[in-house]
Amino acid sequence: MNLEEQCREYRKYVEDYLKKHYEALSDQPQKLLFDAMQYSLMAGGKRLRPILAFEFCRMCGRDWKKAAPFAAAIEMIHTYSLIHDDLPCMDNDDYRRGRLTNHKVYGEGMAVLAGDALLTDAFGIAASADLPKPEDMATAIGVLSECAGSVGMVGGQVLDIMSEERELTEQEVLDIQNRKTGCLISAACALGVIAGGGSEKQYDAACQFAAGLGLAFQIRDDMLDVIGTQAELGKATGVDTGKNTFVKLYGLKRCEELVASYTNYAIDALNIFEDTAFLKALAKSLTERRV
Ligand code: IPE
Ligand code: IPE
Ligand code: MG
Ligand code: MG
Ligand code: MG
Repeated sequence: MNLEEQCREYRKYVEDYLKKHYEALSDQPQKLLFDAMQYSLMAGGKRLRPILAFEFCRMCGRDWKKAAPFAAAIEMIHTYSLIHDDLPCMDNDDYRRGRLTNHKVYGEGMAVLAGDALLTDAFGIAASADLPKPEDMATAIGVLSECAGSVGMVGGQVLDIMSEERELTEQEVLDIQNRKTGCLISAACALGVIAGGGSEKQYDAACQFAAGLGLAFQIRDDMLDVIGTQAELGKATGVDTGKNTFVKLYGLKRCEELVASYTNYAIDALNIFEDTAFLKALAKSLTERRV
């Protein structure tokens, strides 16, 4: 198993899948909307969520390519969340994934609509998945909706905005991080298991893995705002100073320990699966990520 090689294969597959989907729509009169959507979608993120969906599908014993509609849908929802997160009324950022933010290029109206369209189209694409148990589709769509919506990622973004007004407790910060970032990572892992026809036990383990990984991932994101550079990250750094991040609560040193311990919690959850080398290596590599 080569971590980087496998990541590249998963990344390329979801990118080709998304490209093909939107190429088929290129003769529509609202071409500008598709340009705006693809501008952010094809800007080359890490594709962590698709990678997780593919890998859980594979670990459940099915051809990982079967998870592509779920992987693509989650990446679309994630990309929409980034476009909206960067808007002047939210984090007001100028750079994302190494290029100008969507609204800087297409204007705020088009950026809002590109996000809306990515979110909505994602559910259509997810619903096209070929599942070993077709009756699981309703569960999958329900999980996606819950993780992305008002009790999941959007709920977390709301609490994040509200948190700028006062100091939060550790429990409150954990809850925000879980929702705004953990929920979509959970959806990726859970839908990977569903695409793979996994058991209830495998589903629960995937959710436990995602809970640990999601927290580690967002704490590292907060750390990178302090220790990272725009050249590495493709987005501005030093922008979270007014926010209740874990760095603000505990400082960098303790955050590093927390990233390690949440990652270990995630890795422990994988024990019920066979052939976990890739996912363990991936989780470990994320603790030291610079991008
Ligand atoms: C950034 O997500 C925002 C968070 C939820 C922490 P990623 O770090 O996964 O961003 P991309 O997809 O690689 O651009
Ligand atoms: C964003 O968190 C999480 C989302 C749901 C988009 P951040 O605001 O910390 O993400 P970055 O640092 O801008 O990528
Ligand atoms: Mg934000
Ligand atoms: Mg932001
Ligand atoms: Mg951040």
